[in-house]
Amino acid sequence: MILIQVTARAPGKAILFGEHAVVFGKPAIAVAVKRYAHVTITPRVDSEIYAEAAGLEVSGYLDLEEETINTQAYKFETGLLKYVLNALKTIENRINHEVKGLNVAVEIDMPVGSGLGSSAAVTVATLAAAARYYGQELELEEVAKLAHHVELGVQGAASPIDTTLSTYGGAIYLSPDAESLVKLHLEYDLPLVIGHTKREGNTGELVLSVKKRRDKFPEIIDPVFDSIEGVTEEARRALQEGSQERLGELMNINHGLLDALGVNTEPLSRMVYLAREKGALGSKITGAGGGGSIIAYCPGKIEEVIHELQLVEEAFPAEISPDGVKIEVKG
Ligand code: PMV
Repeated sequence: MILIQVTARAPGKAILFGEHAVVFGKPAIAVAVKRYAHVTITPRVDSEIYAEAAGLEVSGYLDLEEETINTQAYKFETGLLKYVLNALKTIENRINHEVKGLNVAVEIDMPVGSGLGSSAAVTVATLAAAARYYGQELELEEVAKLAHHVELGVQGAASPIDTTLSTYGGAIYLSPDAESLVKLHLEYDLPLVIGHTKREGNTGELVLSVKKRRDKFPEIIDPVFDSIEGVTEEARRALQEGSQERLGELMNINHGLLDALGVNTEPLSRMVYLAREKGALGSKITGAGGGGSIIAYCPGKIEEVIHELQLVEEAFPAEISPDGVKIEVKG
């Protein structure tokens, strides 16, 4: 049976510890945040697939066979439609049913290209909505696996952090072998603030620049990765114990180590230090850096930190989303 309207919602994420080092086999800790991508699928009278992300002023017709997008949008936003295209194609292959005659409306209530995992959230939501539209229920494990595959297909490289959090929600510890993901059960909320610059960081280029620095100074940079690993392991214990001061201090150390890797920028640094000045217990770059976002841990100081960061850039509270992908069916 073809349903009239299916909406799937998937959260974005923020990396708390271990970005970049994770690419070199070290652990990381990340949380899903209550900022979502919503993907709504409705039928069309013709057999086209029309996708639109109205808020981003991007729309286009997707050709699954030719794998092309007929759109006039700017570069990055067109990129977002690639995830939709690839996800729909993945569903077509997975359910053995031709995917056509659809309108796909994408709404994203988080900054795009700021390291908050908007592309993974769109991918996960598109997969879940499209499967359900064709009457199939995918296990979460499969959604996460397919979504990671879509990200790899579009980006060439991607860790499973974003797609895992968009699928399952909550907090995760990604173990050093990058194979096993451990769900962290936090018995309290983390008062986090995200500050983001208007400049996008290019994750691929930044990962490459870290690799170059590592190849140039292996004896210096390998111990930096080892230190980040130590920070992440210690932070895992601090999170489980609810030890606030320690957690904040570990974030600050992690920030310094990211700076040593060369992914810091002046606007990010400014936000990191402003947050601490206004009472954050810890603050650091989150994600790839080079632009993008910072995260600050602000028990009792959320308003003050947000206010201060908003004087220079954009900022918002980042509550942890315990929910992963959710589907709603109408009609
Ligand atoms: O794309 P972002 O900003 O969420 O950061 C990705 C984190 C990295 O460790 C730099 C890369 C990766 O794939 O893990």
